[in-house]
Amino acid sequence: MAGNWKMHFNIKESTHLANDLAKAVLGMDDREVVIAPVFTSLAAVTQAVSSSGIKVAAQNSFYKEKGAYTGEITNAMLKDTGCTYVILGHSERRTIFMEDDGLINLKIKAAINSGLDPIFCIGETKEEYDAGLTFNVIERQITLGLSGINSNKLSGLVLAYEPVWAIGTGLTATPEQAQDIHKLIRGLFKKKYNNEVAKNLRIIYGGSVKPSNIDQLMIQLDIDGVLVGGASLDVESFSRIAGFIKT
Ligand code: 13P
Repeated sequence: MAGNWKMHFNIKESTHLANDLAKAVLGMDDREVVIAPVFTSLAAVTQAVSSSGIKVAAQNSFYKEKGAYTGEITNAMLKDTGCTYVILGHSERRTIFMEDDGLINLKIKAAINSGLDPIFCIGETKEEYDAGLTFNVIERQITLGLSGINSNKLSGLVLAYEPVWAIGTGLTATPEQAQDIHKLIRGLFKKKYNNEVAKNLRIIYGGSVKPSNIDQLMIQLDIDGVLVGGASLDVESFSRIAGFIKT
C-alpha cells in the first residue's frame, strides 16, 4: 500500500504526516505500507517511521554511480537516507521528462544492483486505451523495461499498473478492468520468466485510488496493492486505504 507524495511537502510537513501515519497504521502488520516523499525529506521521514514498519521509497534515481550529472542522484545516495524502494518509470517521468523505455531499463538495473527495490510503473495513455492498444503498450513497457534482467533478480520488484488516463483525473479503472489487466500482466511474466516469478510478483494498481474504491479493488485476485497519489497526502484517507477491509 504505497503513497506517492509527488512534489508535495517540505521537511517539516513530511515529517508531520509521516508521524501521524505511523500512529494511524499501528497494528496493520499483515500489509506493507510505503510512502514516497521528495528527496529532501527522505532522511527525516525514514527516521520518523523507523520504529513503525512503514517503508520509504524515493521517487526517482539515476543509473550512474557518480560523476558530472548535474541535478541527478544515485541509488547509493538514496539508500544512505534509509529508503528501500525507488519508483521508476512513472508516467509523469515518461511524459514530462521524456524518459523512454531504454532509460527506465538502465535505471531499474542500477537500482536492483545497488539493493533498492524498484516500483516499476507502466500504463497506457488515453489515446492508446481508446485505440485498443493497452496490452501492446504494457507488453512493450515490460519487455523493454526489464530487458537483460535475470529472473532471479526480480524477487523485490513491484509492478505498478497505472493507466495514465486514471491518474489525477478522478477516473478510475473499474476493479474488474484493473483485474483483467493485472491478470494479463501476471500471464506475461509467466510466459517471459516462469510460474514462480509470476506468482510472487506484486502487481499494484494506481490511478484515482480513494477510500471509496479501495475495498473493491483489493478483493480482486491479481491486485496485490495500490500506488496512491492525491489521496495519500492526507492521513485520514491514506490510512483508510492502507487499512482496506478484506472481505
Ligand atoms: P492519483 O492517485 O492522484 O490518481 O495518482 C496516481 C499516481 O500517479 C500514483 O503514482
